[in-house]
Amino acid sequence: MALDGKKILLGVSGSIAAYRAADLCSQLSKLGLDTTAVLTAAAARFIGTPTFQALTRNPVYSDVFDEPESKRIAHIDLAQSASLVIVAPASANIIAKYAAGIADDMLTTCLLATPPTTPVLIAPAMNTVMWEHPATQANLATLRLRGVTILTPASGVLACGDTGTGKLAPVESILDAILAQLDRVTPIKHQDFTGIRVLVTAGATREPIDPVRFITNRSSGKMGIALALAAAERGACVTLLSGHITVASPLNPKITVVNAQTAELMHRAALQLFPEADLFIGAAAVADFTPVDVNDQKIKKLSTDSSGSSSLTVHLRQTADIAAAVGHAKRTDQVVIGFAAESENLLANAARKIETKNLDMIVANDITADGAGFDVDTNAVTLLWPDGRTLPLPQLSKREVAERILDSLYPLLTSRLQASVGA
Ligand code: PMT
Repeated sequence: MALDGKKILLGVSGSIAAYRAADLCSQLSKLGLDTTAVLTAAAARFIGTPTFQALTRNPVYSDVFDEPESKRIAHIDLAQSASLVIVAPASANIIAKYAAGIADDMLTTCLLATPPTTPVLIAPAMNTVMWEHPATQANLATLRLRGVTILTPASGVLACGDTGTGKLAPVESILDAILAQLDRVTPIKHQDFTGIRVLVTAGATREPIDPVRFITNRSSGKMGIALALAAAERGACVTLLSGHITVASPLNPKITVVNAQTAELMHRAALQLFPEADLFIGAAAVADFTPVDVNDQKIKKLSTDSSGSSSLTVHLRQTADIAAAVGHAKRTDQVVIGFAAESENLLANAARKIETKNLDMIVANDITADGAGFDVDTNAVTLLWPDGRTLPLPQLSKREVAERILDSLYPLLTSRLQASVGA
């Protein structure tokens, strides 16, 4: 991996996890990465600047007026010379300031002065209640839409004694994310999605009946995750809108994962995220129906009737159709792709869905076929276009299917994007 000459700007903010930034800093230095640490005033109260000076052999910055060399404007020079910016740990405060564009100290000034082409990674660390606060989540959604990579915090016992999400991601995974971002191993040919923003849905929704029970399906998320990874490794900025998945969420720094466990939550998130996307791919198995009433309490077993049997009736209502919503809302510079999970009349049913959801292409899969559809590592799909063209593919790995889907939609996507620029 070509790391020589690469410069890392390591931002450290005021979280108890600041001490772990020293470990990350040490690992970066051992790899020969020229690292400069920029501490907020609060971070400097958790861990001293001499630590980072010793680890990086570079000046450590905290105050925007720190100008060790009068010929340079430090914050501009640091921001413009960085190959990558990582803020670890990132407190709720620094995330809020970054999202709002505030530049009132050295770190926020450097962040605002960082060119849009420089990858920025954020590794949040905070109390669970702060992490889950709508303001924090809204700030993170804003940063994601700007292409900032958020390294999801880990769960466990926090410094404050609480248990939940909010621990700084493991230093190893932060390091992996940095190296993955720095190391574009994918052949240039396949960097054809650079600059394209992709929104992919994946996995199964879970429609609650009561606090214990829900209605779901057998989607594992593999197909949607394969599409997200393929797009990211071809240079796209990807948001993975994830229902319940049974495989590990991808840690690719170009992929931001947004969780939405019910059809309603996924619908809301999709409508919020879609305006910033160039391409939408609906690979998730979204429930078509959801219980009209969700019981607050666990439904108790019913007493049996005279015949010794008992039954429970659950009334269902139709859910909002996400693919149709974005299909009918798309601008002329956007492309919307759906899937069709069918057990019969594959092509006729898929063709009808192109029409009703106003799709630009649909991926039809017979979910009763061996090696296709739910929870297997392969798929056998036919691509259909609105003009009636079809492209049947043999059974392939879901990753290869994803590559073929991206190859197939690429011409339409680029022509729409170019037309909008030319407009
Ligand atoms: O996740 P895996 O285990 O890898 O399985 C892959 C898969 C079988 C889930 C995938 O290949 C697939 O077929 N996904 C679509 C499943 C589905 O819901 O198909 P559908 O024909 O019921 O829906 C048609 C399209 O409308 C899909 O793009 C779906 O995401 C979308 N939809 C459906 C209902 C709804 N309320 N909102 C939607 O957006």
